[in-house]
Amino acid sequence: MSHIHAIILAAGRGSRMNSSKPKVLQTISNNTLLGHVLSQAKTLCDKIHVVYGFEGKQVQRKINNPNINWVEQAEQLGTGHAVAQAMPYIDDNSISLILYGDVPLIKKSTLADLIHKAQQSGLSLLSVVLDNPAGYGRIIRKDKQIKAIVEQKDASDIQLNINEVNTGIMAVHSQLLKRYLSKINSSNAQGELYLTDIIACAAADGQTVSSIISQNQFEVAGVNDKVQLAELERVFQKDQATQFMQQGLGLKDPNRFDCRGIFIFGQDCEVDINTLIEGEVSLGDNTTIAPNCIIKNTKIGNHVSILPNCVIEDCVIEDGATIGPFARIRPQTHIKAHTKIGNFVEVKKSTIGKNTKISHLSYVGDAIIGENVNISAGVITCNYDGVNKHQTIIGDGVFIGSNSQLVAPIKIGKNATIGAGSTITKTVPNNQLSLSRTKQTSLKNWQRPTKK
Ligand code: UD1
Ligand code: CA
Repeated sequence: MSHIHAIILAAGRGSRMNSSKPKVLQTISNNTLLGHVLSQAKTLCDKIHVVYGFEGKQVQRKINNPNINWVEQAEQLGTGHAVAQAMPYIDDNSISLILYGDVPLIKKSTLADLIHKAQQSGLSLLSVVLDNPAGYGRIIRKDKQIKAIVEQKDASDIQLNINEVNTGIMAVHSQLLKRYLSKINSSNAQGELYLTDIIACAAADGQTVSSIISQNQFEVAGVNDKVQLAELERVFQKDQATQFMQQGLGLKDPNRFDCRGIFIFGQDCEVDINTLIEGEVSLGDNTTIAPNCIIKNTKIGNHVSILPNCVIEDCVIEDGATIGPFARIRPQTHIKAHTKIGNFVEVKKSTIGKNTKISHLSYVGDAIIGENVNISAGVITCNYDGVNKHQTIIGDGVFIGSNSQLVAPIKIGKNATIGAGSTITKTVPNNQLSLSRTKQTSLKNWQRPTKK
């Protein structure tokens, strides 16, 4: 089996993006356009060459992959010239697969078919039939055989009516590619070295040009501006949602679900509308996510209920827990089984023990809370003294009355009760009621002020 070399053209600036970033670093689903192409190429090819030009350092830094051979194309003299820059690094007895850094949704199966055909015939081309072929190179066939590609600017009126166009993606035996690249010249309307001219060379040489006609326009679509970028983002998301549903995920509306990362789920999980998954998120079985939640890098167990409008990041939530509505769970939080985190509760860098309830309007930061604790409405851990963060430790079975402040560092012993409205600054012993408030008084003769 001959080696497969991917040559990815990525030298273009992409000025229609109106961005300081090179085009191939624009993203779909948090992955760069070039990153998408690389992930397909990686699984099929032995070696990857990326032809770069504009802002090459920025591209290399962002992609940060030591296995790529970065080939500079200092001046953009055409697609044929771009491919030629990589040829010194490619052995004759291999297949060259030509890809584009701005055609991100190309499928692995299509490329595998294309490579297979090139292994048999020497050269295979991916074309597509478009209702509006304007701007593309037209495929010229004679007796069904491909004879040439003619660019829009070089085409005759009759040729302009052809709807089968060149996607640019092709697989070629490298020895043939080298031979034909040495024969092309820039005597055309754009004064460029067209890669597409190798097709006429091959046909003249008696070489068969085999082809695959793509059945999916989006798979071969290039991205030139932010409108097309958004279009392909939708296509990507819709495809991914379809795969998830086929694997058993319940999605109320696949048009209103986004996953920009890796999503793993067990059986009978349901995700309602407007959820965004980022990074690596996993769900056990029978877990539900209500509308409008953002969940990032989090491991969630079985039978967990995430209620509407929660923002959850970098944490672990164990079986049977209930979160929200309107809860914010910040990084390094571990919520143990059957715990309830209610409305308008923020938890940061804390461990919350089994069966504990923090039901309303609380801030819990840098805390270790035991099992079966009740944190009533409006309780705040005062974890920051303006300079340093301090820890709050709460034992099992504690009851903290509403609107209490726990000034850290502080330790509350097992089964202690804190009276509502207390400001706690000293260690609280086990089993006792502790409270800190002034005694209630009533002024018998006091009168409300009257309007002057
Ligand atoms: C090219 C094809 C055309 C095809 C179309 C599909 C040629 C001559 N024409 O046309 O048949 O229908 O793609 O989109 O190949 N690039 C470089 N270096 C260069 C020139 C281009 O890296 O010197 C890269 C660009 O960044 C871009 C890609 O190659 O990603 C295609 O180049 P572009 O100039 O857009 O080619 P088209 O005119 O669209
Ligand atoms: Ca183009």
